[in-house]
Amino acid sequence: MSAQMQTPVTDAADAGLRVDNLEVTIGRGRGAFRVVEELSFSVPPGRMLGLVGESGSGKSMTATALLGLLPWGSRISQGSVQLDGRELANLPERRMRGLRGREMGMIFQNPLSSLNPSMTIARQIGEPYRLYTGASESEARERALELLREVGVPDPERRLDDYPHQFSGGMRQRVMIAMALACKPRLLIADEPTTALDVTIQAQILRLLKRLQEEMQLAVILITHDLSLVAEYADDIMVMYAGRSVEHAPAQDFFRAPRHPYSHALLNSIPRLGDLGQRLADIEGIPPAPQAFPPGCRFAPRCPRATEECGRAYPPPEGGEHRYHCLHPLEGDRA
Ligand SMILES: Nc1ncnc2c1ncn2[C@@H]1O[C@H](COP(=O)(O)OP(=O)(O)OP(=O)(O)O)[C@@H](O)[C@H]1O
Ligand code: SF4
Ligand SMILES: [Mg+2]
Repeated sequence: MSAQMQTPVTDAADAGLRVDNLEVTIGRGRGAFRVVEELSFSVPPGRMLGLVGESGSGKSMTATALLGLLPWGSRISQGSVQLDGRELANLPERRMRGLRGREMGMIFQNPLSSLNPSMTIARQIGEPYRLYTGASESEARERALELLREVGVPDPERRLDDYPHQFSGGMRQRVMIAMALACKPRLLIADEPTTALDVTIQAQILRLLKRLQEEMQLAVILITHDLSLVAEYADDIMVMYAGRSVEHAPAQDFFRAPRHPYSHALLNSIPRLGDLGQRLADIEGIPPAPQAFPPGCRFAPRCPRATEECGRAYPPPEGGEHRYHCLHPLEGDRA
């Protein structure tokens, strides 16, 4: 990797991403409802947080809130989002746009919807770089070439003047990663980046993300339905259920001894399930809709350990580095 790709590791205590008490609300007045609540976590430089949870649990709303890309009608109604100590929550769109280009990169499931079909790859990667750094056209082209090489696009000199439709799905995702990295961001958010790809290509893309995370000291959030993916690549795991974090721990601790019954059920389903987009075979029922979240623990209606007490108030956080919200947590290692 070239010296230019390397980002100096900052040792400031506030380096990386820090989210405190984040709340996202859709609508206003009496019809308003919260889809993300009391979410607090941090992702230091050089670490990958795996964000998992069933469909509708609020993963993408969290990601778009961090990036200032929430859908129309929704907003950050409370809390703080800091990147390297700078507050981002509710910054004006004009300023967020600049930060998204320079300091935050994003990769989504479908690269085609994010790539401009009528622009060559050299320009798509090079333009934002030119815009944010004031580089010349030939410098931007050089940077695009360097990035294509970095993300493993074969024969990059020849591919620079190709258009997105001339690339395969996996290669397009590599191009998206190159675009996201063009300005050497501090934070990279990948929301289901490999769902549309076959298993071999999936592994290649995730290995690439992991290498870049380590080499560039990026803070990475990997959002996925697939628990086996986070098991292999993430350093920390956060499980969301019905808009809240239910458990957050270093990956090793999480997989060895999950404390929350929901996490436990998810893990027991891995061999058969892997993909949380499907129904959970071991747990009856489905997650509640945000308009009808129950007052206490949101998992209570489906939880085999639930008692009356669980329905009274949302369980406070317990544990230190391995944090969970449950009144009757599991003890000990997974069988
Ligand atoms: N534009 C929108 N308008 C209204 N409700 C929305 C909108 N986008 C998401 N929601 C609701 O917000 C909640 C969280 O959705 P989100 O997309 O964050 O879930 P997710 O965890 O990313 O799910 P998936 O795994 O299916 O991508 C869901 O209940 C969803 O119905
Ligand atoms: S608080 Fe109660 S209902 Fe909720 S997960 Fe724990 S045991 Fe189950
Ligand atoms: Mg989503």
